[in-house]
Amino acid sequence: MRARDIRARAGEETLTMLTAYDAPTARLVDEAGVDMTLVGDSVGNTRLGYESTLPVTVDEMASHTAAVARATDDALVIADMPFLSYGADEGDAVENCGRMLKEADADAVKLESGPHTVGLTDRLTDLGIPVQAHLGLTPQRENETGLFRQGTDAESAREIVDLAERHETAGAFSLVLEHVPANLAAAVTEAIDIPTIGIGAGPDCDGQVLVVDDVIGLSEGTAPFSKAFGDVRGEMARAIGGYVDAVEGDEFPAEEHSHYENDVDDVY
Ligand code: KIV
Repeated sequence: MRARDIRARAGEETLTMLTAYDAPTARLVDEAGVDMTLVGDSVGNTRLGYESTLPVTVDEMASHTAAVARATDDALVIADMPFLSYGADEGDAVENCGRMLKEADADAVKLESGPHTVGLTDRLTDLGIPVQAHLGLTPQRENETGLFRQGTDAESAREIVDLAERHETAGAFSLVLEHVPANLAAAVTEAIDIPTIGIGAGPDCDGQVLVVDDVIGLSEGTAPFSKAFGDVRGEMARAIGGYVDAVEGDEFPAEEHSHYENDVDDVY
């Protein structure tokens, strides 16, 4: 899958996007036919034990993206650019984004967007680095905005529509809309020709994205707009508990898990 294939699918069959952070999960996501695998900076909360996405580094993103890319045959692999890896110095931003394609084998990058990313989106796409924009709730700005719904009044809604149009003009191939009113997401989807990918943004986007841990039921708590389609946390707890009980109860390892060699009988 190429970014240009995703761009061409606006208004057609609903696009699917899911996060993955490691090879086995990426393989399952790809085999399920998901269109885009996002190596989200949510890796900070979901895998690395950070309390927010802010500490995630470019090296960490490159490592997780490379693992996902190695296990993906069909889906578009998108590397989420972490806090302050872009936005301060354009040269550094280009280098950091470029690393995701050169070193980690990503197909595209995602930027939590705002007025400061319009020029950068233009520059990156000019250089051949496809960019997915991200508006609405942008968790890297949590100290500024909080982790709340965005675009809930006329002025901020207008600003989101305006920024969506500016990022489309700058060359973004798609746009994530996070935690905005469904009617605003519908208006943005109408206003631009690139696909909108919603998370907590209602049913009228061109596609949907969720965090894979929420979908499989691994997260401890999930956002109100999310949905667990499985109970992996319960299943893991049962398996780990079963192992502990079996070892403590001397039931594991059994005969079939052990092997014996005649030659080592008289070692002592
Ligand atoms: O980091 C992430 O997982 C994301 C998605 C929630 C869109 O940005």
